[in-house]
Amino acid sequence: MKKLKIGGICLNNPVVLAPMVDITDAAYRKICKQAGASLAYIEMLNIGAILHKNKKTEQLMKLYPGEKPGAIQITGNNISEFKKVAPYLSKYDLIDINCGCPSIRITGNQSGSYLLRNPQKIKGMIRTMKDAGFTVTAKIRLGFKKNNVLTVAKYVEKAGADALTIHARMAYHGNDVPAEWKWIAKVKNNIGIPVIGNGDINSGKKAQEMLEITDGVMIARAAIGNPLIFRDILYYLNKGKEREKSFKDNLNLFIKYLELSKKYGIADISRIKYLGSNFIRGIPGAASWRQNLMQKKNIKELEEFAGTILNSV
Ligand SMILES: Cc1cc2nc3c(=O)[nH]c(=O)nc-3n(C[C@H](O)[C@H](O)[C@H](O)COP(=O)(O)O)c2cc1C
Repeated sequence: MKKLKIGGICLNNPVVLAPMVDITDAAYRKICKQAGASLAYIEMLNIGAILHKNKKTEQLMKLYPGEKPGAIQITGNNISEFKKVAPYLSKYDLIDINCGCPSIRITGNQSGSYLLRNPQKIKGMIRTMKDAGFTVTAKIRLGFKKNNVLTVAKYVEKAGADALTIHARMAYHGNDVPAEWKWIAKVKNNIGIPVIGNGDINSGKKAQEMLEITDGVMIARAAIGNPLIFRDILYYLNKGKEREKSFKDNLNLFIKYLELSKKYGIADISRIKYLGSNFIRGIPGAASWRQNLMQKKNIKELEEFAGTILNSV
């Protein structure tokens, strides 16, 4: 199995969980890592909210006990704020800088994919975090013009980043437009730092295809409610065939997720229910199970509910 080396961090496989707002909390990261992900980032957090000690942000910043490597994704637009935030991030092993988020809430603040118009600024942000002693990655989209991705990637490398993740969609594309992996291959051929490919990987075969052109793969949507995608991908990389899906195994992980959510004080019940509705995707009778799930008011009720489904599949 190919390993993935990011600066001084050596990951024992090249399959990583993407940062995802409202998904990759401490409990979810833990079950994905147990399922085989070698790295899992805390979702994108705003530097301003970190500096202002926003309560929700502080909760999301928590690592689970023993989490290694601890990785977090940050977003911001102001290099002096990157300097200020460094002391708040000392417990993390890896900092990712978001240069790809297309949400108007982020681009309106001149961060996320807005930055792809200004690679010099991306370089300054990376340099600032490197100077503060961190292992640093950047996650980008292709940008506003396709050739732009090569220019941005070279700036990222020159800034001293330890790896680059490319989500192979234009800054303005939705997920209905297929990711264009050929641009990832072009970047890989033009820079020397590790490249992690992202976009539309939902099977062992797709992961293998991406790994033919990159050093690592990053999985987002296919991991929502399906942490076993990591086990399945590693199985394919080892054996060259897809592993059969197991609803029971996945439901057991939902139960584990609920248990960990309680343990880590993850109190956002609507977030937990959203994940739950994804865990039951594909199960016979999923639509009525989902309606039932939406009525649940707390984790205890969700645990009982998960137990009932488990006994029925
Ligand atoms: C619910 C959701 C939340 C996301 N949040 C983030 C985020 O916090 N940071 C980020 O860089 N990308 C975020 N993304 C984008 C993903 O990380 C990924 O780049 C994109 O979904 C393409 O990968 P996929 O085809 O494997 O889903 C998010 C995507 C989804 C579906």
